[in-house]
Amino acid sequence: MPSNKPNQKPFNFSKISVCLAMSAFISLGHLILSEAAYADVDHATTSIFFGMTTGAEDGDPQSLKNTMKEIGKNFKLIGGSFSDASQADANAARANRVAELLTLALDKTPDKIDQLPASEQADALKRFQDEIKNMISLVRELAADLQAKKMDALSAIMSKIKDAKQKGHDEFKEEDNGH
Ligand code: HEM
Repeated sequence: MPSNKPNQKPFNFSKISVCLAMSAFISLGHLILSEAAYADVDHATTSIFFGMTTGAEDGDPQSLKNTMKEIGKNFKLIGGSFSDASQADANAARANRVAELLTLALDKTPDKIDQLPASEQADALKRFQDEIKNMISLVRELAADLQAKKMDALSAIMSKIKDAKQKGHDEFKEEDNGH
């Protein structure tokens, strides 16, 4: 009696390795596809999230919030270098830019005024516009001093601007806005 049955084949290792390689390949494919899907969902979620949190105000580049943001960026740069004479021309240009931006703010109404009783809004808007106009002249004075390289005069005018900004924010800016 023959010890090997005629139809029974020994293990074929080369076939097993091909199978293993194929299933590894398929799993890798699934992994790549699911990562891609995740990335899409993630992207969509991020867009929706940003749309909800920043879309309303940031959609209008000339909103009061965005105008103030740009004023703030320019002013930070001036504040960090106003006593440096080599920066005087660059800072004069920034101060003039701030004055232009403040002119845009003259046409806006802070949310805080919108929330007042109707009978108080006109007076409040007038005070807001007067304070913005006052700030425009202070900032123009700063630009002129910088252009004339009157370095000794800068601290005093900067401190007037700081106080006027504080006054404007105390009255017209909502508490939770930071800055
Ligand atoms: C150089 C002077 C000023 C600087 C540097 C400045 C800067 C800023 C900054 C950084 C913000 C926050 C913007 C944001 O939410 O990201 C802001 C908001 C605001 N500022 Fe000023 N500001 C100045 C003067 C004034 C003045 C004089 C007034 C009013 C008379 C004023 C009224 C407001 C109001 C109402 C907001 C809130 C805007 C909103 O969220 O709708 N600011 N400002």
